[in-house]
Amino acid sequence: MASAASAIDARGVSKVFKGAGQDEVRALDNVSVAIRENEFFTLLGPSGCGKTTLLRLIAGFDFPTEGEILLHGENIALLPPYKRPVNTVFQNYALFPHMTVGQNIAFGLEMLGKPRDEINARVTEMLKLVRMEDLRDRRTSQISGGQQQRVALARALAPRPKVLLLDEPLSALDYKLRKDMQIELKRLQHDTGITFIFVTHDQEEALTMSDRIAVMSKGKILQVGAPHDIYVRPADRFVANFIGETNFLVGRIASEKAGKAKVELAAGGTLSADAPDRGAPRGSEVTIVVRPENATLVPSGKGDIAGVVENVVYFGTDTHVHLKLADGSQFIVRQQNATLASDDYKPGQKAGIAVAPGTPRILKD
Ligand SMILES: Nc1ncnc2c1ncn2[C@@H]1O[C@H](COP(=O)(O)OP(=O)(O)O)[C@@H](O)[C@H]1O
Ligand SMILES: [Mg+2]
Repeated sequence: MASAASAIDARGVSKVFKGAGQDEVRALDNVSVAIRENEFFTLLGPSGCGKTTLLRLIAGFDFPTEGEILLHGENIALLPPYKRPVNTVFQNYALFPHMTVGQNIAFGLEMLGKPRDEINARVTEMLKLVRMEDLRDRRTSQISGGQQQRVALARALAPRPKVLLLDEPLSALDYKLRKDMQIELKRLQHDTGITFIFVTHDQEEALTMSDRIAVMSKGKILQVGAPHDIYVRPADRFVANFIGETNFLVGRIASEKAGKAKVELAAGGTLSADAPDRGAPRGSEVTIVVRPENATLVPSGKGDIAGVVENVVYFGTDTHVHLKLADGSQFIVRQQNATLASDDYKPGQKAGIAVAPGTPRILKD
């Protein structure tokens, strides 16, 4: 149940765009989600799934076709963007290049008509928060991409919004800087206590940064949960596939007892998994997911499933072994190199796959 304690509460929100003479685009399709106060909440999904559209509706840059958006329990439909206690960090930062770092950060406060002393004090505070005190008088055209990112954050945080919207803010940064900024953003969120709604298409970024994640596809939210919940108990095939690497195994329910289903795999062998909530009639076809790190290679003839090694890919900390199963499907085993000698398995070799008990999941789809 959504309560007044939700920072943002979207109820049945749809957004339809009508192109001239073209088919309409349902960018958001009956989206309902309650985002808690002080939460680091992430909208995760592939390009075009509606993430930016949802942020724009929350910010007030556009209006829902259907549904409503509440901020701390109040309908904000009629509030223009500048009257909402919400600020946005855009993907391209949208800084003013002819202004200094300090002037950029002061900008929003000046628009709000704050007194000069207060503005100066707040700019100092914000520069300290993002560790940019030395660069106050530098033009933003003369600082690095990572520094511009910090200025954009400081500028958005300066008016003390209740909710900060961040639209793929790290996607323009190189790998190392992105990793640093991920930690920095977590720290900023923690230190300010502001609700962050963060958008990314990068599942690893979402898993490492978020309190909760909403996985989106084609204008819908498919699952909302803590990173661990979503990873371990993906609601459906799309989520299982989008978050981390997954093996899909097709099989038939052979028996069900005390909530555990025995599944006969099309690839041969059986696996035990939690029975689906809806029950599992004998003989019904199901898909099981097994994460690659929950499988290990064992000598041929042993283990739960038999396979033939196709490829061995070395990753430094671990090795991914790609196998082909008897039904033609693919299976990936990921093993720590501490537990697997790299020349143990070679393409063409038969191997057994042992699946850690309790880890297979039956997909609801
Ligand atoms: N102003 C617009 N007019 C028409 N279609 C739009 C408009 N804005 C977004 N869309 C469409 O809505 C869908 C969702 O877009 P968007 O929210 O930008 O996705 P994301 O941010 O997840 O990549 C896409 O199919 C996009 O082409
Ligand atoms: Mg977008």
